[in-house]
Amino acid sequence: MEFPFTGEPIPASEEAVYAAFPSYRQHGLAMFGPDRVVYSADALPILQKLYQTPLHADDLWLLTPPKCGTNWMSELAWLVNHDCDFQAAQAYLTPDRAHFLDMPLLVSSSRREAMVAAGNRMVMSITDRPRPWHIQTHLPLNFLPPALLDTCKVISVVRNPKDAVVSLYKMLQLNDTLSPELTVDQYAELYMTGRRFGAPFFSNVLRAWEQRNHPNMLFVTFEEMKQDLRGVIKRVAAHLGKQLTEKQLEQLERHLSFESMKDNQWVNKENLGFRKPDSSTGERRAFMRKGQTGDWKNHLSAEVAQKMDVWMEENLRGTGLELVTQLPQK
Ligand code: A3P
Repeated sequence: MEFPFTGEPIPASEEAVYAAFPSYRQHGLAMFGPDRVVYSADALPILQKLYQTPLHADDLWLLTPPKCGTNWMSELAWLVNHDCDFQAAQAYLTPDRAHFLDMPLLVSSSRREAMVAAGNRMVMSITDRPRPWHIQTHLPLNFLPPALLDTCKVISVVRNPKDAVVSLYKMLQLNDTLSPELTVDQYAELYMTGRRFGAPFFSNVLRAWEQRNHPNMLFVTFEEMKQDLRGVIKRVAAHLGKQLTEKQLEQLERHLSFESMKDNQWVNKENLGFRKPDSSTGERRAFMRKGQTGDWKNHLSAEVAQKMDVWMEENLRGTGLELVTQLPQK
């Protein structure tokens, strides 16, 4: 099955995008498919390849927009699927236990070639991995193999975009993808227009939400995980056809708490350079940053927060989906 979309280059005259993502100036960015998903201008062959990822009924696919709880749910689902083998979970979530499908899209072609040549497993071909596969991806559903939902178990996690955009901004700053001059408000404006690297937030979320009643789809929100982690663990176990004892539930709940995950080297991406303190300020720069709902209030201006409310309201109207930006105190 051929990837059905092409790319339309983003011209150099779109200065705001290139100023935000300066490292893409040289090779350029393009918009792919009807939702105008932004990747490097040379991404088409990779998108074609990922569209043809082989499917097997015993693989698990995890679909999320960035910073919506991918690694949290990935650790949860991996442990449920591996009968709570906490010993075996002492290996890096990515790339040892989970395959991050979009990784080759996130690096420049020259960097990718160097990583492949060095045998870096973050960019290994999925077909070189032992099965069953545990796959994480930020790609929207229409960029994935068309028979995915009819073949595999799929879990989708989304989060309110006000917290997701702050979390993404912080991470892209940490890995030097964003211009250091770009403010979080400016990045949030690009996020709302969709003129930034990756899939526009709402088209990605709503494509998964539309499939929420498919028997192979489990749709969960970050805020549900925050409010009722035990309930979500039980839903995942039911989705994957696994039985958990009361003791396993307790162990999982403890293991998956933010307090525990923030110090867990296997999920905290220390292998990918996170968690090093800032050399000048000494600030803690971990992948597991705050893990809160409502942290956007500490970062977004009132004006941009209000714009985001209007944008959320417009995009969610009539969909039945609610994204909570604030949780009651426990
Ligand atoms: P913050 O940056 O707001 O802290 P992803 O895995 O999709 O990249 O999402 C990362 C976000 O999920 C980060 O958000 C991270 O702290 C949060 N997260 C990860 N594990 C968590 C946990 N156990 N409890 C709460 N939040 C968690």
